[in-house]
Amino acid sequence: MRPWEKTEINERGNMTFAGCDLVELAKEYGTPLYVLDEQAVRKVCRGFVGCFERTGAKGRVYYASKALSTAAIYKIAAQEGLGADVVSGGELYTALSAGFPAENIELHGNNKTLPEIEMALRAGVHALVVDSHEEIGLIDSAAASLGVTACVSLRVKPGVEAHTHEYVMTGIDDCKFGLGIDDGEALRAVREIASCKNLKLVGLHCHIGSQIFELEPFLIAADRMVEFAASVRETCGIAVEEINMGGGYGIMYTEADAPMEPYDYLEQLLTRLLARCKEAGLDGMRFAVEPGRSIVGEAGLTLYTVGTVKHIPNVRTYVSVDGGMGDNPRQILYGSLYTARLANKRNEPVGESGAVAGRFCESGDILIKEAPLPRCEAGDTLAVFSTGAYNYAMASNYNRVPIPAMVLCREGESALIVRRQTYEQLVENDLVAPWLEDDKA
Ligand code: LLP
Repeated sequence: MRPWEKTEINERGNMTFAGCDLVELAKEYGTPLYVLDEQAVRKVCRGFVGCFERTGAKGRVYYASKALSTAAIYKIAAQEGLGADVVSGGELYTALSAGFPAENIELHGNNKTLPEIEMALRAGVHALVVDSHEEIGLIDSAAASLGVTACVSLRVKPGVEAHTHEYVMTGIDDCKFGLGIDDGEALRAVREIASCKNLKLVGLHCHIGSQIFELEPFLIAADRMVEFAASVRETCGIAVEEINMGGGYGIMYTEADAPMEPYDYLEQLLTRLLARCKEAGLDGMRFAVEPGRSIVGEAGLTLYTVGTVKHIPNVRTYVSVDGGMGDNPRQILYGSLYTARLANKRNEPVGESGAVAGRFCESGDILIKEAPLPRCEAGDTLAVFSTGAYNYAMASNYNRVPIPAMVLCREGESALIVRRQTYEQLVENDLVAPWLEDDKA
């Protein structure tokens, strides 16, 4: 079922989501407002964990927290038995301060800083995912000075091209992430890691892209990862314990999107990995995945209030809302498509399409170019669906517009999980150079 079909209409004619009246939420918390359905998040987490149980595969689901990093989401992920993938000191800090168990965290990044590496080692994370030759020495000496052994995993490029937007295509050779299998760089890195006294190679990692609908690229990547694990064992005598296949399962943004259920991707992927490992004599291998978008994407929506409605005869109608590229930069960055509904006019017939325009000073700040909506007027509450992933996470203060609040909804209950930024917070890091103080030129 598509996310906009999962909503219901209550006795007031308003749209409800996770049992909450969206028009009431907009009134209570203000707009723009990110809304997250807790049970929807939990359902996907359980579905993923269930795949391991059903297939008998050993391993772990790491929530790719770059999709949405807040204290509440780390709590939910931990309660559901997931690990977390973090890509920065900031995400690591957020996870740890929410009480996320460090031993279930892995640190990614193609250019981790020394303080980030040290922070991860001090916390005792499960693994640091090595992404370059330089990093091997850096992690080794950081581990030596802290007196610890660093567990590392190696990010490799399996050379698989997934059909997705080019900016999020990461499995191909011309890509800043990971080291190539085909050009021998990955094997060279394995040898370097093996020669470091303070490093232990625990796993191999790949991530072939994001918002992928086809199963095939995942399966090809799985074959290549198992082949590589086997060649590491043969040529270097190292038996890696874990193969991590990254994330990437696509979700529904529009009627045209038809992904499989996220668990179907994972179940088939695990089945393939188990079979290939058996053939290669790599029994006992553990598997990991790192879904982000598929866990939180469809579980989130954004509420806006309609302001101006501009009819340009024979051209287009622009319906402007109180948010836009600041809270959702995906349209302007990737040309991403979204689906919207009027939460207070759910029963009204759709009229001609108009553009949903943002409030930011940039003509390209259009959330949806052609949105079939009922007649819009100032004060309407507009819901844009599937905004749970990479929206709040990528929000900016462009035009010094505060970042919206986020509420968590569960069976009709709602609670604030991110406060709305205030104007005071916008200026709290601003300083005036001393020579500007006396107000003379
Ligand atoms: N693991 C690694 C190493 C990744 O690089 C990513 C995403 C994931 C897991 C999670 O992938 P997911 O399951 O969410 O597809 N900002 C872009 C998406 C960038 C994804 C980057 N890496 C967007 O808004 O579409």
